[in-house]
Amino acid sequence: PIVLVLNGPNLNLLGSREPQVYGSSTLADIEARAREVGEKLGLHVDCRQSNHEGVLVDWIQEARSGVSGIVLNAGAYTHTSVAIHDALRAVGVPTVEVHLSNIHAREAFRHTSFVSPIAIGVIAGLGVDGYEFALQALARRIEHGRR
Ligand code: DQA
Repeated sequence: PIVLVLNGPNLNLLGSREPQVYGSSTLADIEARAREVGEKLGLHVDCRQSNHEGVLVDWIQEARSGVSGIVLNAGAYTHTSVAIHDALRAVGVPTVEVHLSNIHAREAFRHTSFVSPIAIGVIAGLGVDGYEFALQALARRIEHGRR
């Protein structure tokens, strides 16, 4: 099974971006770890990052064919993007929403998520481990035959 790990805007700056909030791991570290964890779980993990909303929408649409799950950290688009919400709803691929920080313990504008209503689950505030937990959850779900 193929699982997409999608990261949105500014997550390419991880490591140097507000390390007190987001930690010291780089995106490359997160992606390498995701592939490693995926391999152990029998998943092929395809990692992508874009700063562009439309590119993320294109990738979500592509997932219609052949992708069994999505791990999505949509960054700031989480709080704004009806387009990403609609794309996720249209494709119906099981999606786990991940945030490094606990968005609910931060500014009010981060408390709303357009991703959460279509996510099978949400992980926030557990740092880079969140991606690993999301992959575990998807692997278990895929194993039980629910695409
Ligand atoms: C984030 C939280 C968002 O509010 C923020 O815009 C990000 C990162 C997180 O992983 O904690 O870019 O999604």
